[in-house]
Amino acid sequence: MTLPDPAVVVLVGAGGSGKSTWAAQHYRRAEIVSSDELRGVVGSGPADLDASTDAFDLLERIVAARVGRGLTTVVDTLGLDPERRERWRAAARAAGLPAVAVVLATPGPECRRRNADRDRPVPAPVLTDQLRRVTALTASLADEGWDHVELVTPDEGGDEDTRRLVPHRSPEGRNVAVGDHTATSRPPTGVRVVLQLSRFPWGEDPGGWLRGMALAADEAGFSGLAVMDHLVQIPQVDSAWQPIPEPWVTLGLVAGLDTRLALGTLVTPVSFRPAGITAKAAATLDTLTGGRAFLGIGAGWWEREHRGHGIGFPSARERLDLLESSIETIRALWAAGTKAYDGARVSLPETTSYPRPVHDIPLIVGGGGERRTLDIAARLGDACNLSSDPEVLTHKLRVLDRHLAAAGRTRADVAVTVLDLPVVGRDREDAWARVERLRGRTPAAAFARRTNAGTARQHRDRYAELAELGVSTVFVGVRGLESPDDVLALAELNG
Ligand code: CTP
Ligand code: MG
Repeated sequence: MTLPDPAVVVLVGAGGSGKSTWAAQHYRRAEIVSSDELRGVVGSGPADLDASTDAFDLLERIVAARVGRGLTTVVDTLGLDPERRERWRAAARAAGLPAVAVVLATPGPECRRRNADRDRPVPAPVLTDQLRRVTALTASLADEGWDHVELVTPDEGGDEDTRRLVPHRSPEGRNVAVGDHTATSRPPTGVRVVLQLSRFPWGEDPGGWLRGMALAADEAGFSGLAVMDHLVQIPQVDSAWQPIPEPWVTLGLVAGLDTRLALGTLVTPVSFRPAGITAKAAATLDTLTGGRAFLGIGAGWWEREHRGHGIGFPSARERLDLLESSIETIRALWAAGTKAYDGARVSLPETTSYPRPVHDIPLIVGGGGERRTLDIAARLGDACNLSSDPEVLTHKLRVLDRHLAAAGRTRADVAVTVLDLPVVGRDREDAWARVERLRGRTPAAAFARRTNAGTARQHRDRYAELAELGVSTVFVGVRGLESPDDVLALAELNG
């Protein structure tokens, strides 16, 4: 079953229909606001009807507070009061969250049987009345203005069968499989997933940590390992005094391990090294790995790391010119032979440089600059590297396609890769704990949305959707990776 997430989820169902059970299976405890539970907080117990007024006052305040923060909220009451339903829908609207009604349409006899088993059963006529009202409501709920209405009925095997009464129509909500246990095996996504390491919390044994992370990436089924090329840790990842090792040396260590991983940078700024040195480093890596190197390359963007290392930081136009000429130089030095090279921007008296790469090293042009970077990618790249946000990506691909057409090339010549920076948890609870740990001062709902916080399986399904947009490779910089065990837990990304 897929429901939008985050969302305001209003449960509807008679006593004993399984509302609380369903909520607990699919959502974190803190996401569920239950009138029964609050009766137990402000009254003598969940069945203390004298505490109803206080319990519902509290419930409304909790719902308003959570929804106001954009947090998923599951309202666990009978759901039979139309005014309350309208208020929760309005709160969802105001917060820009999809409003979802979930009807637990468990047959009457089953509800009665479960009710009879309880410590404090609801009186039979009360339950009958509830069942009648739920049935009537099921027919009219579709007209109430929900973004999504889901009918949950138990089948004979005890498994859930759900039917959608209102198709999902809230573009701002992500559709996610709520509750992983209902998911079955899926077809392969068709994308290659390369793990990008951007933080190096390696403690007292940097080499050992790096080996462990690379071996775990191989074991978890990643296609490759990418490292950033920065001289100072970038603020998007960590503080400036955290280690960020030189990439070619780092990849040299990984090259010495027994793995099948493709290895490369994402991305090397052309401003750091003369192009010939970058060509030499990548060719050496390709040779030592038997043809597993790739080269991500870009114009460079962070002035601070250049200044602090005594490296010039020319204007954007000059850096983009340098990107073009660097690609030319690198390709000339990778091609077979030693002859002189005389190209559009570069002339070399000879191209003697050994070892030559053992395979065609994919040259991935990073960046989404629409006028020049994507034009350079279209004309000179083997691949581009873009944002994994589907809306941004769709737009950038339109621009890329225009440049490709102008250059007389096609997507067959230039593969589409994306950089994805998700929060991945073992389950919903763990994903949320990571959001809390990693979000800094960004509001949790915004951070969770930006990082698509969820399980590996949910990300994998998202990658399948990216594949449909034409993405061949996802570079995944999973946030907060600490240890090889964290990497092994990502295996499902590669299913
Ligand atoms: N139950 C079950 N099988 C299900 C769902 C629920 O056997 N698929 C059982 C639960 O273990 C519980 C009883 O049915 O003992 C009632 O389920 P519950 O989720 O508590 O139902 P609610 O709809 O939340 O009931 P109430 O309105 O009284 O809160
Ligand atoms: Mg309940």
